[in-house]
Amino acid sequence: MSSDPAIQFRHVTKEYHVENAVLGGLKNLVLHLPTQIRAMRARKPFCALQDLSLEIAQGESLSVIGRNGAGKSTLLGLIAGVLRPSAGTVVTRGRICPLLELGAGFHADLTGRENIVLNGILLGLTRREVLARLDEIIDFSGLAQFVDRPLRTYSSGMTARLGFSVAVHLSPNILLVDEALAVGDLEFQQKCLARMQQFRSDAVTMVFVSHDMESVARVSDRVAWMDGGRLREIGPPQQVIEHYHAFVHPTVAAA
Ligand SMILES: Nc1ncnc2c1ncn2[C@@H]1O[C@H](COP(=O)(O)OP(=O)(O)O)[C@@H](O)[C@H]1O
Ligand SMILES: [Mg+2]
Repeated sequence: MSSDPAIQFRHVTKEYHVENAVLGGLKNLVLHLPTQIRAMRARKPFCALQDLSLEIAQGESLSVIGRNGAGKSTLLGLIAGVLRPSAGTVVTRGRICPLLELGAGFHADLTGRENIVLNGILLGLTRREVLARLDEIIDFSGLAQFVDRPLRTYSSGMTARLGFSVAVHLSPNILLVDEALAVGDLEFQQKCLARMQQFRSDAVTMVFVSHDMESVARVSDRVAWMDGGRLREIGPPQQVIEHYHAFVHPTVAAA
C-alpha cells in the first residue's frame, strides 16, 4: 500500500444556506415581526467549516472534540460523502463505514434483522455477504431477543447498538463514529471501545467524535479540537484534551 493519507482536506469550507429553513412556510411569516424577517433574509449563508486543511494517515485514529455546533458532524459528513464542500476538496481512500446520526438509514417498520440486511447492502455488501455475517452481527448487538421486532419498538440505545454492530462487521478501511456510543449503556460502550482498539491495531483508519474524554484518550493517536468551524488545535491526545478542558472550565484549570 502507498503512504498516501486515508483522508485529505484541502482548504475545505462548508456553508449551509439557512434562509429557507428559517423562513419555511407562511406560519413563520405570520408569527415573526417584519423586522425580524428582514434580518433573517439578510443573513449570509452559515459557515459551519472554514478553510480546513487536514490529513489523516492510513491506520491513524483521530478523535474530534469541541462544543456543540463546532462543526464536528459536518466534518464527518464530508468524509462520508453525504455532504459536499462549498469550497476546497476532500479526498478519501478506502471503504468507508459511516456510523453517523443515530438511526440514519434505518426504517422504523422493518425488524432489527431486516434493518441489518438493508444497512449492510446500503453500505456496500451483497445480500449473501450480509447473510453470512448476520449471526455474528446479532450476537455482537446483544439484541437476539428483539431482533424480529420492528425497530420502532427499540429504544435509542438499542438502535445505536444495531448501527454499531453492523458498521463494525463490514471490514471497513475507514470507520467514522459520531457520538453513537453516547446513548448505549456502559457495557456496550466498553465493548465498542474494545472493538475500536482492535481496529486500531488492525490499522483501520478511524475518526471518532465524542464528548467522553476518557474514551477519546483511549482510542486516539491524535486529537483535533474544533471550535466555530475551525481547527483550533491538533496534536497528542493528552495535550489537546488538557487545553480543551482549560478552555471549557477556565476556573477549574486555574485552581
Ligand atoms: N443542515 C444544516 N443547515 C443549517 N445549518 C446547519 C446544518 N447542519 C449543521 N448546521 C450548523 O452548522 C454548525 C455545525 O454543526 P455540526 O457540524 O452539526 O456541529 P457539531 O457536530 O460539532 O455539534 C452548527 O452551527 C449547526 O447549527
Ligand atoms: Mg454533531
